[in-house]
Amino acid sequence: MAMWMMDHIANNAINEAFRLNYARIPLKDRAHILHGDALEADWSALLPPGKCSYIMGNPPFVGQSLQTPVQRQQMARILDAASGKAGSLDYVAAWFVKAGRYCQANHRIRIAFVATNSICQGVQVAQLWPQLFDRFGLEIFFAHRTFSWGSEARGKAHVYVVIVGLVHREHEPNEKRLFSYPDIKGGPVETRQAAISAYLVDAKGTANRHMVVTESSRPLCDVPTILYGSKPVDGGHLILSATDRAALLRHYPTAKNLIRKLLVLMNS
Ligand SMILES: C[S@@+](CC[C@H](N)C(=O)[O-])C[C@H]1O[C@@H](n2cnc3c(N)ncnc32)[C@H](O)[C@@H]1O
Repeated sequence: MAMWMMDHIANNAINEAFRLNYARIPLKDRAHILHGDALEADWSALLPPGKCSYIMGNPPFVGQSLQTPVQRQQMARILDAASGKAGSLDYVAAWFVKAGRYCQANHRIRIAFVATNSICQGVQVAQLWPQLFDRFGLEIFFAHRTFSWGSEARGKAHVYVVIVGLVHREHEPNEKRLFSYPDIKGGPVETRQAAISAYLVDAKGTANRHMVVTESSRPLCDVPTILYGSKPVDGGHLILSATDRAALLRHYPTAKNLIRKLLVLMNS
């Protein structure tokens, strides 16, 4: 649909510039559209991989803690992880894995998805990228590093996204295009790299371009173990405003000691 809209906008611009009346409407060409759940559909039945050139999309982003039980099951099935679980991966990761598997039957297919930038940061990297690099033989042939994707709907928040292009190693170009955003809401600056890492940086300085930092439950040196980082998942219920605090102490004067002990613990 978006393609038809762009076609129509471009035709209108030509009409205005050259005083023509060029229109393609009513539309005669029809796309073959499957309306359904992309993670349940058999992509090969829709289009055999041998006939496919590109897979592109803007799949949904849903963080681990917001995924429904059905989405968790879909993720676990598609990721086919040794643990049988979907780990901390965002829902969008399932599209990368499903596309990577589909491309095993045609190494020339080029993939590009918009994604939340969290799949290229922190704990998710080691859960997703070894599958794409090692299991499916894919390489990043272009990438847009984090930029702000503004929704045109009023009041909608901006999301921080990346765009990652993948192709099988057998067909990777020598030069990969990397787009960086010095101003996250501005335009990109393009550089050319021999390899792009899963963190969407130039991989030249790394010993292994597929390097990922793996999760570790033990500290690497002599420092106390972290039990849990700070993450506000209390829905705001554990935050006391000055008024809340005064009301709490009016009803439960002994809570003063508890609050003090908690503060000492949090600051230790
Ligand atoms: C980020 S939006 C992109 C919308 C549109 N394609 C665009 O680019 O503006 C993701 C879309 O995927 C849809 N979606 C969510 N889960 C899906 C699934 N399992 N299969 C197919 N589409 C899904 C959502 O309803 C949403 O419309």
